[in-house]
Amino acid sequence: MAKLETTYMGLKLKNPIVPSASPLSRNLDDIKKLEDAGASAVVLYSLFEEQIALESGELSHLLEGGAASLADAEAYFPAEQDYPRDPDAYVEHIRKAKEAVDIPIIGSMNGTSTGGWLDYAKKIEEAGADGLELNIYFIPTTDTLLGMDVETLYLDIVEAVSDSVNIPVAVKLSPFFSALPDVATRIDEAGADALVLFNRFYQPDINVEQKTIEPSITLSSSADLLLPLRWVAILYGQVDCSLALTSGVHTSEDVLKALMAGADVANVCSVLLQDGIGKLKEILEGTSQLMDKLEIESLSSIRGSLSLENYVEPLAFERASYIKLLQGYGRI
Ligand SMILES: Cc1cc2nc3c(=O)[nH]c(=O)nc-3n(C[C@H](O)[C@H](O)[C@H](O)COP(=O)(O)O)c2cc1C
Repeated sequence: MAKLETTYMGLKLKNPIVPSASPLSRNLDDIKKLEDAGASAVVLYSLFEEQIALESGELSHLLEGGAASLADAEAYFPAEQDYPRDPDAYVEHIRKAKEAVDIPIIGSMNGTSTGGWLDYAKKIEEAGADGLELNIYFIPTTDTLLGMDVETLYLDIVEAVSDSVNIPVAVKLSPFFSALPDVATRIDEAGADALVLFNRFYQPDINVEQKTIEPSITLSSSADLLLPLRWVAILYGQVDCSLALTSGVHTSEDVLKALMAGADVANVCSVLLQDGIGKLKEILEGTSQLMDKLEIESLSSIRGSLSLENYVEPLAFERASYIKLLQGYGRI
């Protein structure tokens, strides 16, 4: 039997399949089902900075200069009955989740400033979370903001949180940096125990007939794996912290690809929203069978085996592959 154990940000996990933040962790029954299906840990849906600001009366201050035209702060959130808005209820949810299951529970916070909302990191730790994932969902929309300002924002948040808690901290990154290995290394040095590649940005569409912008969340497919796969392969060996791959993991093969590129865990989300929680069991069993078939004894034996670390001239290798592919297209 293939050995599926892995270590992720200091947590010893029985396998590399970790459901990422999503509505599937909103209720305890589903968290239990995720555990029963074989999930080795669960990242809870995010607590948003805006939720904390709303509770503390600071939301209008937070919106100043950015979304001041949003007269009603309520517009930020779904109906109360659909979503627990109270940040303390989130902390309580973590406490209950910890009681309900044996697998590690990783809290998630989503925000873009170094304000008071970060105090909730400590509360999440005190509620028993085994780790904390920071999703810094920041979209620069003005030309007065420099790339290094954005990077400083990330670093300041990571430093503030990792100084305030003792549990491991993961940082969910965006792919939109001009020199990701440099940023990743600095986030690692600022105290991150894991990098999660990549945050999937909500990308609004345009309705041509209505002449309106349409908010949309599209679920991923395995084709979306290629972007994080490449960057995990590039970062492997360059950062000391763990790596999680999120986006496009839909099959057992995708899980092994993530590991071969250099990830410690493969996050699943869209596939479970699409096919149900039971799909996790199928992916897990399939991973084990595929490893047996390919005579892979353990994940540690393949981790990073196809990372860029194995190439003497990574930059030249990337360029050479690119040129060869473009110029060779259609020749077979
Ligand atoms: C409906 C939905 C809700 C999500 N909620 C969160 C969230 O609260 N926090 C977060 O960091 N990511 C959230 N995500 C992003 C996922 O955790 C995941 O990183 C992303 O969907 C890419 O993985 P996938 O291709 O497996 O879906 C959400 C994604 C979806 C589709």
